[in-house]
Amino acid sequence: MPQLAVNVDHVATLRQARMGIEPEPVTAAYLAEMAGATGIIVHLREDRRHIQDRDVELIRKTCNTRLHLEMAATEEMQGIALGIDPEFVCLVPEKREELTTEGGLNCVGNEQRLKDFLAPLHAKGIRSSLFIDADPKQIEAARAIGTEYIEIHTGHYADAKEFNARNEELSKIIEGIRLAQGIGLKVNLGHGLNYRNILAFKDVPGIMEYSIGHSIMAKAIYVGLDRAVRDMAELVRSFAD
Ligand code: PXP
Repeated sequence: MPQLAVNVDHVATLRQARMGIEPEPVTAAYLAEMAGATGIIVHLREDRRHIQDRDVELIRKTCNTRLHLEMAATEEMQGIALGIDPEFVCLVPEKREELTTEGGLNCVGNEQRLKDFLAPLHAKGIRSSLFIDADPKQIEAARAIGTEYIEIHTGHYADAKEFNARNEELSKIIEGIRLAQGIGLKVNLGHGLNYRNILAFKDVPGIMEYSIGHSIMAKAIYVGLDRAVRDMAELVRSFAD
């Protein structure tokens, strides 16, 4: 059954807007788990624009499911991951000027560097995922790196306004899922998914987990976090195994 991992970065975004103490991402993570999330995701960015180091430390202590630490492949983040010991790390590209993660990680040509980067994390039992576009070359490179999981970037599909462009992006993702599964990678999906556009994946088998933040937090403003997470969890669990 596909699982739902909830990204709580946007709770921290709201708190950082006033540099105060609320809303509290640690509480949001706890409520998300109570509502059926099977994982909690935090992206500790280099510029600390939303999630702070103390959030990661506290969520590590209070998380009852699985903590996914999203991060750039930098020495600083490697040290933090080794100290925090999350169940998963997901490597993402990071640019200071971007609003959110804008594209997948470039694995092609970086195989050895990323393999070396992940080695101490794998040695500690931390599992890895690489956030990549549904590009066959990137998928093959991810396998060469030796990651167990990839997370296919669904942002281009989610952002496409025009029907044909959207379908084209969707086809690329579905082909990418098949290719990755065929070469033994486990596949997660994430970025820009909401209660409607996620339905395109309902009959696609073998997706391990959906990584979702913004749409859940947006709905939570109207109906509360419990209901927003429950609705999404129910949806993904109704999808093909
Ligand atoms: N997966 C990755 C790798 C991301 O960087 C993000 C955004 O932080 C997400 C999933 C979640 O995207 P969204 O907030 O659009 O659901």
